[in-house]
Amino acid sequence: MSVGIERIAAYVPSYALSLRDLAVARDVPSEKMTAGLGVHEMAIVAPCEDVVTLAASAGLRCLRRAGVDPGEIGMLLLATETGVDHSKPVGIFVHELLGIGRHCRVYELKHACYAGTAALMTAADWVRASVGRRRKALVIASDIARYELRSPGEPTQGAGAVAMLVGNEPRVLTLEADSGTFAANVYDFWRPFGRREALVDGKFSVECYLDALAGAFTQYRALERPQLAPEEALSDRLARLLYHTPFPKMAAKAHRRLIELDWRAAGQRWAKVEPTADESVAASFRDLAATGIEAVSHIGNTYTASLYLCLAGLLEREARALAGRRVGLFSYGSGCCAEFFTGTVPNGVESVADAGLRDLLKARTMIDVAEYERLMTSGEVGGEPPAAFAGDFVFRGVRNDRREYGRPRASMAA
Ligand code: CAA
Repeated sequence: MSVGIERIAAYVPSYALSLRDLAVARDVPSEKMTAGLGVHEMAIVAPCEDVVTLAASAGLRCLRRAGVDPGEIGMLLLATETGVDHSKPVGIFVHELLGIGRHCRVYELKHACYAGTAALMTAADWVRASVGRRRKALVIASDIARYELRSPGEPTQGAGAVAMLVGNEPRVLTLEADSGTFAANVYDFWRPFGRREALVDGKFSVECYLDALAGAFTQYRALERPQLAPEEALSDRLARLLYHTPFPKMAAKAHRRLIELDWRAAGQRWAKVEPTADESVAASFRDLAATGIEAVSHIGNTYTASLYLCLAGLLEREARALAGRRVGLFSYGSGCCAEFFTGTVPNGVESVADAGLRDLLKARTMIDVAEYERLMTSGEVGGEPPAAFAGDFVFRGVRNDRREYGRPRASMAA
């Protein structure tokens, strides 16, 4: 039975900050952010948005695009590291906002940015186990990446959500069995109870990411099916590579490491000399990975959603060229757990390739640094949406220790 992603939809907040403006305010060369990290803009949430409204907006768009009745969803998995309560899961608010039926498993998954993949794999296994019963799962990855103002992590913030309908009629991506995993207890990035902003050992986190890539990819490479001629060049086996992208330069570092690992695993057969010369890595990155990170360079880090925003952005731009071809995906979550897996883009993908990302990015309002700092330090206030608001749900605030949500007026009318 084929299992995978039947439909995908994204949601990004309505505000964005230019990294050039942030560089001026922080008195660093703007090239450090645009070239050094690869980020151009980062998405910022309005006071009326939180992790729940981002997730619910992505979920609603996914179900609408798929033409699926919420009552058909038998499992709702919400991956996030921006949890709003120690006990009550983000997913149960989303379950109500989307009108999903009572007979549904709903829970939240956490392992830093890896949780989106944990949810996707769990949903796929659940579909595979439901032989004879046509059941669909809704997986939503939703996060708001926050670091201290003026810290090295500040330019790598962002926010957004991706919803994926998982079932046995995959029209977006058919998941393949080959997968390599890696886990190790490391303190590279974490957020202790009571803190809104993450703590990070930045340079160490980059090393941990690359070590986890080596661990997961090496296991995947040993399992890769022989009929795929693993001695062939990477680009002959995988049409595109997508990486968890906390900032685009991280994906470039990952791609370099992957090429080296693949060449060694292939017995150094697909190139005479080690293919890590700057020009050859840059060309390979341009061909195999650059399109996937384009949208992320305008959104920033979305933690659990990051890898799937790359997938959504890639398909919006290149669906036709990718039909019938395989892609490789690398998921990393600090702490850490990682997975390298593959999927095939089905023929006919063009008809489901619009995840809504392009339109959302066009409609955003750019804010200045003073407004950004005001939003970052104002805490969780909730409220009514700003004039140009694209979201489908609003966070009204916390009353009596209870979170309240609703629909914005324009959207209720629609
Ligand atoms: N022009 C062009 N490039 C410049 C430049 C200039 N004027 N000035 C500096 N640069 C380059 C540097 O050479 C460097 O590039 P390389 O890494 O290729 O050498 C790059 O800009 C970054 O500069 P620094 O090395 O000075 O690093 P920094 O102090 O700004 O910190 C960071 C960078 C560690 C990534 C920091 O932003 C951070 O801590 N981010 C959050 C943590 C993170 O995202 N880690 C990624 C792995 S963990 C993960 O993936 C999970 C997750 O989602 C958080």
